[in-house]
Amino acid sequence: MSKVEGRAGIESIESVDGDTSFWTDSDALVSCLREAPPRIPSHFGYDALGSNLFEEITALPDYYLTRVEDGLLRRHANDIADELGTPWIAELGSGSAKKTRVLLAACAARRQTTFLPIDVSREMLVSSGDALAIDCRDVTVRGLWGRYEAGLRWIRRERSTPVTVTLLGSTLGNTTPTERRNLLTEITRTLAPGDCFLVSVDLIKPAHIFESCYNDPPGHSAFVRFRLNHLAHINRRFDGDFVLDRFQARAHYNEHTHAVEGHLYATKDHMAKLRALDVELKFRAGDSINVGFSAKFDPSRFVDNMRQFDLIPHTHWIDQRWKYGLFLFHRR
Ligand SMILES: C[S@@+](CC[C@H](N)C(=O)[O-])C[C@H]1O[C@@H](n2cnc3c(N)ncnc32)[C@H](O)[C@@H]1O
Repeated sequence: MSKVEGRAGIESIESVDGDTSFWTDSDALVSCLREAPPRIPSHFGYDALGSNLFEEITALPDYYLTRVEDGLLRRHANDIADELGTPWIAELGSGSAKKTRVLLAACAARRQTTFLPIDVSREMLVSSGDALAIDCRDVTVRGLWGRYEAGLRWIRRERSTPVTVTLLGSTLGNTTPTERRNLLTEITRTLAPGDCFLVSVDLIKPAHIFESCYNDPPGHSAFVRFRLNHLAHINRRFDGDFVLDRFQARAHYNEHTHAVEGHLYATKDHMAKLRALDVELKFRAGDSINVGFSAKFDPSRFVDNMRQFDLIPHTHWIDQRWKYGLFLFHRR
């Protein structure tokens, strides 16, 4: 465990996923690049620059998700804290964890609370953990640096108390159906009977709302830079030669899969190589690479599907205007 020396704030950051080696673990990347169209797994979007760009996205005028979730958490923090009742709260993909603070403060007013943020971005763990430990002095913050599965493994090994796992920011939607099943299976394996799972999901609504939300409005470029940064990041990690200005970013809502897909479209015929992986990708003008996946859900189907993971619906809080929900489950 590495103590973050000489500063008030986060108690520790533990590397749970082989330090930086998870960034160079190429298996998932290579198999996603073989899909048609090729895809880059979402965690490659969150190096230090990508994490800051995501924060910029959350402030875009049409990006309602963060603001709506923040409102739900502020309005219902006390009710949620009453229901949770667990001394440990782990957050998968915690990012800046700004919205989580109000919930943690409500939990700490009721019981001793340890927050375990889990994220691939070490920079975000340090800055969010420090801000949290200063804002919510009664909460102990122990950061777990690595991928979700590694953080969950750590919890299975170290847990000595009931646990809530949270997955906010509609991050569950950033998984493909197969990735989602695997992640939910790992979450269920980690929770003991009676433990809680608090998850936010964005609900199905008209396509034009998603298309404004997931594309830059005039005068902004946060989405374009965030999406292109996936290419810059894998160029750096895998000796690649993607030329960023040969691509144009655009997101659209796929009505069949109920997912917003963020694509980079090639503007001319060309090839790109990742020499360290021995991978070569051929693009015709108009071909794309998928760098963003955000599934949207029907609330009753979502809740029913969770039963197969032994997650029993307890309560939910839905913003009716924006059709966005926080759902609380108990592990059977
Ligand atoms: C959509 S952002 C949400 C951030 C924050 N929860 C919020 O609501 O604003 C996704 C977060 O998950 C992290 N992340 C993405 N894939 C991950 C993975 N496989 N393992 C761990 N963290 C991951 C990213 O670094 C980022 O902080």
